[in-house]
Amino acid sequence: MNVLDSFRLEGRRALVTGGSKGLGRVMAEALAQAGADVAIVSRNLQEGEQAAREITEATGRRVFAGRADVTLSVDVSRVIDEAQTSLGPIDILINNAGINTRGLAQELSEEDFDAVVAVNLKAPFLCARALGPQMCERGWGRVINLGSILSVVAIAGRAPYCSAKAGVANLTRVLALEWAQSGVTVNAICPGPFATDMNKPLLDDPEKYRAFVSKIPMGRWGELHEIAGAAVFLASDASSFVTGSTLFIDGGWTAQ
Ligand SMILES: NC(=O)c1ccc[n+]([C@@H]2O[C@H](COP(=O)([O-])OP(=O)(O)OC[C@H]3O[C@@H](n4cnc5c(N)ncnc54)[C@H](OP(=O)(O)O)[C@@H]3O)[C@@H](O)[C@H]2O)c1
Repeated sequence: MNVLDSFRLEGRRALVTGGSKGLGRVMAEALAQAGADVAIVSRNLQEGEQAAREITEATGRRVFAGRADVTLSVDVSRVIDEAQTSLGPIDILINNAGINTRGLAQELSEEDFDAVVAVNLKAPFLCARALGPQMCERGWGRVINLGSILSVVAIAGRAPYCSAKAGVANLTRVLALEWAQSGVTVNAICPGPFATDMNKPLLDDPEKYRAFVSKIPMGRWGELHEIAGAAVFLASDASSFVTGSTLFIDGGWTAQ
């Protein structure tokens, strides 16, 4: 096969949690550009439907928008049923939905910690548990979890997020081992800083923004489109022998 053909996703169907905006929106559109039909899932259905319309207009692919809180297994099962009724069996799952609550450990509540762990770590488990077995039955599947540079390095004031993202890296490895013989790969994309809604508190504070830039060897934040190639690679046959890995897209932050 020509190597470029191995990146093509025609005939594949993907589900992207948090696909309504930010990095998830970019990855959903990238998969559609590569030929996949896509389901995007978020709590705000209006934003999801708007993104779905825009991606369909840009790519001509079918895009389904579903409403779910991915921390709830009943929502996860329902939205997967709806997505599969609309598009057919899902072959590619991107566990992208995420939130961050910042603050020193002694200032954070139990609820703060639970909420961040639920969206960033428990939800990928729930979604992978719901879709992985049927991918294994069909003998082909891709699960891509969103880790972070904070899967492997720590920053003060990020206890819930760092804990959850470190968990994502090892959840990725465990699932990779469990499904390694079934044609289903499980990998993590670990971004450095990108200018999305999640990072508004950093973007709105020039001092914090500059402090982050100073930690990035390439001397700048990531541009949203710079996540797209990794998503298509890990979602496609081009990555057929890659499983359990963590791919850092961080301008060199974790190389130091
Ligand atoms: N941006 C960065 O610099 C960066 C760096 C490293 C890692 N990451 C990771 O990349 C992923 C995407 O981040 P982002 O910056 O693109 O975030 P974002 O722009 O804030 O978007 C987050 C997405 O997740 C959805 N979401 C949040 N909670 C949800 C829930 N309970 N159920 C369903 N959907 C939910 C949001 O939609 P609703 O609010 O409508 O539900 C939205 O679509 C996250 O996992 C994040 O941790 C980001």
